[in-house]
Amino acid sequence: MADPAHDPALRDVDAAIGHEATPPLDDGDGLHGKVAIVTGAGAQGDGIGNGRAAAILLARSGTRVLVVDRSLDRAEVTVARIIADGGDAAAFAADVTIQADCHAMVDAALNRWGRLDVLDNNVGIGSRGSVLEEDPARWQRVMEVNVTSMMLAARAAIPAMIACGGGSIINVSSISALRPRGLTAYSTSKGAVIALTKAMAVDHGADAIRVNAVAPGPVYTPMVAGGAMSAAARRARAAASVLGVEGTGWDVGQAVRFLASDRARWITGQVLVVDGGATLRGPERDPGTDR
Ligand SMILES: NC(=O)c1ccc[n+]([C@@H]2O[C@H](COP(=O)([O-])OP(=O)(O)OC[C@H]3O[C@@H](n4cnc5c(N)ncnc54)[C@H](O)[C@@H]3O)[C@@H](O)[C@H]2O)c1
Repeated sequence: MADPAHDPALRDVDAAIGHEATPPLDDGDGLHGKVAIVTGAGAQGDGIGNGRAAAILLARSGTRVLVVDRSLDRAEVTVARIIADGGDAAAFAADVTIQADCHAMVDAALNRWGRLDVLDNNVGIGSRGSVLEEDPARWQRVMEVNVTSMMLAARAAIPAMIACGGGSIINVSSISALRPRGLTAYSTSKGAVIALTKAMAVDHGADAIRVNAVAPGPVYTPMVAGGAMSAAARRARAAASVLGVEGTGWDVGQAVRFLASDRARWITGQVLVVDGGATLRGPERDPGTDR
C-alpha cells in the first residue's frame, strides 16, 4: 500500500487533522487575492440585486471582481460601491448569451489581474404562464438567457480556472425549479440549471473546479421593486417563508460567497436553497392523522 506521506491527497488531510492543526486565526475563507467574474452584477438604480450583492460581498473578502452586465451603467454603479468600500473591481459590458462576449469577459479578467478563480453565473430573466400560454420564441429566449448563457460563460472560464489550479462556479437557480407555480418556462430553465450544475461538477471535479447552485426564494430585489409591489404582496411573500421575514439580495450574495470560499472546499454539485424555508411550506394537514 502507498505511504500516505507521499500521497498528496492523503498527506494534506493528515496535516489538516493532526492535533496541532486548527483553522487559521482569521478562519480564512481563502478569498483574499482571488479573482471573480459576476454576471448580471448590475441592478436597476442603486438597489441591491443578487449579482450586485455577491460582487460587493466577494470584494469585501478581498476578491477582485469583474462586474459584468449587459448595461455598463449598471455595472459601474456596482463598481463605484466596491471602490468606495476599499475593494478592487472593474466594470465590463457583455451579453452572456453571446460566446464571443463570454470569451472577452474572461480575457478582461485575465488581462487585468492575471487569474480567474470564481464565476457567479447570476444572469436570469423571468417568464409567465403555462405551456399553453407561452410563446415558443419567448420560451427559447428564456432557455438561452437562463441556461445556455451559463454554459457559454463556463466554456470561456474553465480553461482559465484550470490554468490557476482550480476554481468555483456558482449557478443561480430558483425555488421555482423545486416548487413550480405557473412560471413554466422559468421553472424549466431553473431546473436545467440544477442538472447543468451537477453534470459540470462531475465533469470538472478532476480539474479541482467545484460547481454548485444557489436556489433563491422570492427575495426583494430591484427587479421586484421595479414592478411597484404593494406592501400587502410583500407581506404575503414574507409570510410564505417559515421564518416570516422577507429575503434580500444580500442573503443570496452571502450564499454565493460561502460556496466560492474555501469553507465550501468539499462541497460540489449541490443546490443551496436560500428561501427562509418557503419550500417547506404546504397546505395545513389534518392534525393527528396525517403523516
Ligand atoms: N429576485 C428574485 O426574487 C429571484 C428569485 C429566484 C432567483 N432569482 C435569480 O437571481 C438572478 C438575479 O436576479 P435579480 O432579481 O437580482 O436580477 P435582475 O433582473 O436585477 O438582473 C440583474 C442584471 O442582469 C443583467 N442582464 C440581463 N440579461 C443579461 C445578459 N444577457 N447579459 C448580461 N447581463 C444581463 C441586467 O441588465 C441586470 O442588471 C437571476 O438568475 C434570477 O432568475 C431571483
